[in-house]
Amino acid sequence: MQRKVTKAIFPVAGLGTRFLPATKSIPKEIMTLVDRPLIQYAIDEARAAGIKEFIFVTSRGKGALEDYFDHAHELENTLRKSGKDDLLELLRHTNMESGAIAYIRQHKAMGLGHAVWCARRLIGDEPFAVVLTDDVIAGDPPCLQQMIEAHHETGGSMVATMEVPMEKTRSYGVLDIAEDMGAIVRARGMVEKPKENPPSNLAVIGRYILAPTVMENLNKLKQGAGGEIQLTDAIADEIEEGRPVFGLRFRGQRYDCGSKAGFLQATVAFGLARDDLKDEFAEYLHDVIAMRKAAE
Ligand code: G1P
Repeated sequence: MQRKVTKAIFPVAGLGTRFLPATKSIPKEIMTLVDRPLIQYAIDEARAAGIKEFIFVTSRGKGALEDYFDHAHELENTLRKSGKDDLLELLRHTNMESGAIAYIRQHKAMGLGHAVWCARRLIGDEPFAVVLTDDVIAGDPPCLQQMIEAHHETGGSMVATMEVPMEKTRSYGVLDIAEDMGAIVRARGMVEKPKENPPSNLAVIGRYILAPTVMENLNKLKQGAGGEIQLTDAIADEIEEGRPVFGLRFRGQRYDCGSKAGFLQATVAFGLARDDLKDEFAEYLHDVIAMRKAAE
């Protein structure tokens, strides 16, 4: 029986330069898809997977992120007095139980592996999850829950994976496959952003369930691709040391909200998935496309 995964790390220290100037004064994790910030999607997914402790690795200028999960007493009182129970209910999802959320500062941008390592004292000797908020995944059940279920069977460490076109592998961590069992693959190795000869086209997507030994591997603070301390390398070390690492081909649609095109695609998809918006929005999109075609 595997130990329950109750802690998740959310590395949110990035500068979000790809979304400047918006990210000059707001953390990119506060940018909204329809009406919910990216971080809310990540937190909801983690909650659905049974996560109880949420560890944010932040940096300067991320105050808005901390405020977001606080009670907004004045706002809540106003809504209560005017009987706006539906809005109060919406806000309830943004509140965290006292002590459930911890903020750790990453003082220097030294890579994803370093950000995760910053949370080592809060993780201790337990398996833990890592959720990258840039990767928004629409899945039922949510991706992290699928992974926790699969991890119960496999143990070891697990990354979310999906096939990408070969020429895109240089933007991802890439799995070297030892055994392909369908939904689950066992990895023989893992390479961060291979410039040439990718071992496969199975890419790592930003959901991880990791054995505590990955933190020990990160202790080496070894520089990898791009001169950064890479989480992928610390996971690959697990394999080197004879511990199992798996990939899960999750069921669901992933949006790369770290890129503008991906963010727009997610906005369209989530807009179309909303009962209160879909009819009007679909009609609008239909008209826009028809006008574009007519103009061509
Ligand atoms: C990070 C990881 C990479 C992974 C990717 C998924 O890269 O380092 O292994 O494939 O997330 O989105 P980033 O996109 O932050 O450069």
